[in-house]
Amino acid sequence: MPLLKIGSLTVDYRTSRGTIRAVEDVSFSLEKGETLGLVGESGSGKSTLGLSVIRLVPYPGVIVKGHVKIDGKDIVRLPEHELRFIRGRKVAYIFQDPMTSLNPIKKISAHFAELIRTHEPNVKEAKALERAKTVLKDLGIRPERINDYPHQFSGGMRQRIMIGLATALNPDLVIADEPTTALDVIVQAKILDLLESLRNAYGMALILISHDLSIILERCDRVIILYAGHMFEHASSTELHRNPRHPYTQGLLQSIPNIELADQKLAAIPGSPPNMLNLPRGCRFWPRCSYVMKICRTKEPPLIDIGHNHFVRCFKYSRGRAKS
Ligand SMILES: Nc1ncnc2c1ncn2[C@@H]1O[C@H](COP(=O)(O)OP(=O)(O)OP(=O)(O)O)[C@@H](O)[C@H]1O
Ligand SMILES: [Mg+2]
Repeated sequence: MPLLKIGSLTVDYRTSRGTIRAVEDVSFSLEKGETLGLVGESGSGKSTLGLSVIRLVPYPGVIVKGHVKIDGKDIVRLPEHELRFIRGRKVAYIFQDPMTSLNPIKKISAHFAELIRTHEPNVKEAKALERAKTVLKDLGIRPERINDYPHQFSGGMRQRIMIGLATALNPDLVIADEPTTALDVIVQAKILDLLESLRNAYGMALILISHDLSIILERCDRVIILYAGHMFEHASSTELHRNPRHPYTQGLLQSIPNIELADQKLAAIPGSPPNMLNLPRGCRFWPRCSYVMKICRTKEPPLIDIGHNHFVRCFKYSRGRAKS
């Protein structure tokens, strides 16, 4: 049984201006210890998909269809009290903005003590703090800083603390939502190395969310490319790098600088993502696609299985087997 199995997941935001289908018919699974990257432009539904895994899609978001099974249990249908065990202990979430989960008026010690004692009520406070200090040491932060407040740390250190809190209970899955976007490149790489070393040490699975395909290809076993809530391409990182099939993925790859090629031209994808309240008819990418065909303007392409565990949502490949 896979650790995580998502099937036909569809999530809507019911706003006063209309319904935004932020995630539509997404299916994939994740094995223990595996790493998966979710890539897409701003607004493509990455956070909504990630938050669905712990059923924390914010209001007015609603999971309208599909299942999210963790160890076979569908969390979409689980009572709230059972979700507490899933959140934190089974699946930990590193939020896009670290300050949303660090309380500015609480010391770091209180954050760790509360987390550990909520899930393990028999652990005494002193013991919890000892454990927290060991975690800080692993993160490269001096243990005595446990008495400091979140604002006394730099952005990179706050992100380390978030990772420490996420991994303190040794969860089976960590979801890291753009954990490094606000940081400079060197700190970014250090944070991702830290995540990788913790993952190797504890065997956790990881879902890494980023708008940067090069980071994902470097760090993850598999990749899902999201576009306006739809899965556009899904393959292993090696396969996707070597053999990108969707015109959108090809565009993303062409805009990654290659340090071995001097004087290269970086092709950006023309246009911008669609208005989610008014999606184009047919394929939602066609207005930006240089391979657009007649059918693309009227029909939505299915996700097509092109072999080697590679799936692509594009009519160019529709002679393959459709997987809906
Ligand atoms: N609370 C909300 N209320 C209404 N619409 C929302 C809400 N949160 C997200 N959306 C909409 O849902 C869609 C997906 O948003 P989401 O935040 O999941 O994208 P994302 O890929 O994480 O973007 P980013 O890279 O900017 O973080 C967008 O069109 C967004 O405007
Ligand atoms: Mg996001």
